[in-house]
Amino acid sequence: MNNLKNLRGTTDLLPEQLKKWQNVENIIKDQLSRANVKEIRTPIIEMTELFIRSIGEGTDVVNKEMYTFLDRGERSCTLRPEGTASVARALINNGNLKGTFNKLWYMGPMFRYERPQAGRQRQFHQLGVEFIGYESPNSDIKIITLAWDILQKLGISELNLEINSLGDRTDRENYKIAFLKWLKDNFDDLDQDSKARINKNPLRILDTKNPDTQRLLENAPKLNQFLSEKSLERYSFIKNQLEFLKIPFVENLKLVRGLDYYSHTAFEITSSALGSQATVCGGGRYDDLIDQMGGDKTPAIGFAIGLERLILIAGTSLEKGRDPDIYIVNKGQLAESLAIALSRILSNFDLITELDLSGSSFSRQFKKANKCNAKSVVVIGDEEAKKNEFSIKLFNNSIENNNELKISIEDNAKLEEWILKNLNLNISAKK
Ligand code: HAM
Repeated sequence: MNNLKNLRGTTDLLPEQLKKWQNVENIIKDQLSRANVKEIRTPIIEMTELFIRSIGEGTDVVNKEMYTFLDRGERSCTLRPEGTASVARALINNGNLKGTFNKLWYMGPMFRYERPQAGRQRQFHQLGVEFIGYESPNSDIKIITLAWDILQKLGISELNLEINSLGDRTDRENYKIAFLKWLKDNFDDLDQDSKARINKNPLRILDTKNPDTQRLLENAPKLNQFLSEKSLERYSFIKNQLEFLKIPFVENLKLVRGLDYYSHTAFEITSSALGSQATVCGGGRYDDLIDQMGGDKTPAIGFAIGLERLILIAGTSLEKGRDPDIYIVNKGQLAESLAIALSRILSNFDLITELDLSGSSFSRQFKKANKCNAKSVVVIGDEEAKKNEFSIKLFNNSIENNNELKISIEDNAKLEEWILKNLNLNISAKK
């Protein structure tokens, strides 16, 4: 029988890799809580219609990349390809929108049926941040700087911020008329995919990956020529503020994003340290999404960072986890029982404890303690166990070190005193 394998484009994250993931996640969560952004968790599986109505028919995500299936009740379900639509739905469903400001984040797996390569998977993870109810252009600045600062905090260099304005709904409607006329005049030269998009969603032709169509589009009317005075003013404010805050950016008039819900500010952050999948963060404003989904008209802006790509470029210093504070070496039946009792006592302290249950020789267990960089060892043999005692000492010190102490299993105070004195930890024993 063939070995069972994970599906293409999905990966197992093993404990060694997860140290870096956890360090990265902790730094991110710390930054977000400092900005008073609250976590939200939504289901991984949603009604397919949610994504069709938000991301848009005619987008690559909806047309080609969704994991969609009928459940046993014949309902069309989809594994979420992104998080913004679900967050909007959750706020509408829970009546959390009227006149409120919501600053939310989420982290978790997303699913897109794409061709896997380095930094591109079918199951990948995103950190998403959504500011919902916020209209002021300064909220755009807050969102962009939050994304930028998270990446900086993780020590990621070679970052490039690109921005564009997609105007409001009316600007895009005006543009669509001119663009459609141009598309019809150039119909014969378009690729098949683009031809199919003309009636469904012509603006998505701007995302085409076809090099001939991309070249042809150089001569098409540009969206920025159709922005109203008001939209242009908003956009200028954002560019000025970014300059004021010394956040380097380039304007990219071709940046339209691959999802339909955006208006006004759209931005992406790329890193030259990544290969072809260089976009580590993408986001923008989506003022029309919530009323389009049946909620009250609510302005909003957000971004998502691809965690796999982030992990690829985050510094190697983040790969290290915390080493065990105490390694419990023990041999013999009585000793093992006492070791288990002690490990339960130690779990009340803010310590990492490794309990050796191998039954191998003392010298082997010491070797293992050394290998995992344990700061200290507890040693229990059957003789000590008979007296309900164990000895504890700092590791890596010479045998003659004077920090070794015999302690009775009942003497929690003495144990705590030793830990405080020797392990240099900010420990808190639960009383
Ligand atoms: P997005 O640009 O589709 O935006 O995805 C955001 C990020 O997710 C990308 O920049 C990339 O780093 C990562 N990503 C996307 N697809 C893959 C993949 N197949 N494998 C690995 N990483 C991937 C959104 O999803 C929007 N919901 C962002 C947003 C939030 N806009 C407003 N609020």
